[in-house]
Amino acid sequence: MDRITLIQKIIKEANFSAYLEIGTQAGKSFLPIKCKYKIAVDPMFCISSKRKIKWLLKNPLNIKNKYFEETSDDFFAKKKSFLDKRGKIDIILIDGSHTFEGSLKDVLNSLKYLNDRGVIILHDCYPPNVASATPAKSKNEAAKKEVEGWTGEWCGDVWKTIVYLRRAFSDLLDVCIINTDYGLGIVRIKNKIQKPLSIDNKLFDEMHKIPFEEVKQNAESMIGLKDENFTKVLINELAAKI
Ligand SMILES: C[S@@+](CC[C@H](N)C(=O)[O-])C[C@H]1O[C@@H](n2cnc3c(N)ncnc32)[C@H](O)[C@@H]1O
Repeated sequence: MDRITLIQKIIKEANFSAYLEIGTQAGKSFLPIKCKYKIAVDPMFCISSKRKIKWLLKNPLNIKNKYFEETSDDFFAKKKSFLDKRGKIDIILIDGSHTFEGSLKDVLNSLKYLNDRGVIILHDCYPPNVASATPAKSKNEAAKKEVEGWTGEWCGDVWKTIVYLRRAFSDLLDVCIINTDYGLGIVRIKNKIQKPLSIDNKLFDEMHKIPFEEVKQNAESMIGLKDENFTKVLINELAAKI
């Protein structure tokens, strides 16, 4: 199951009404999703007016979309009043920066606005091979490193965010990866978060020492890897909290 299908099923079954997407590009995932309120954040949208009109006709809920052309860091820092007014968000897709630091910050910022019964989904958490896990700021930068086994697929080191969250916040968060669509990281709130979560620099640095091969060998303990059937469990669990 791909991210778009999973997100749509969750929205329907859990009766969710607010969706935030970090990293939208041409709107391949954002525009088809049917949800009452949708917010997109990307410093470089590439959605033509023609495409917006096409998707407005196909999915009229797109009329209310809010677009923020900026990095997610700027969005969370500068749009606090918009976010506070908007109220809690039910479901968040993080698919922007493919770096460990960027994706971790996106999760920690997103948690400030996530509905307690909501869910964060991170794309690209389980790279198909070591080359596609090459740490870099962009796919071009990763390609230039000419790592052996490069196939043109690129996930970066977002997987470190999952390892980090499972080690740092096992008391507060339920975190795993579903082995589908390049690895969908799933983050849910287990126990009420009393104050904003911050980054522990020592643990952060430790993540950089873990080779991706080690994660592949210890996938269950390190990243809570689940097979695709877990999508059904997840949808049912989220729907049961209504
Ligand atoms: C892989 S694409 C997103 C694809 C889209 N979600 C889809 O499913 O088709 C990544 C996007 O993230 C954006 N991006 C990169 N860094 C970002 C950041 N710091 N904050 C928000 N978006 C970012 C890029 O401009 C790019 O458009």
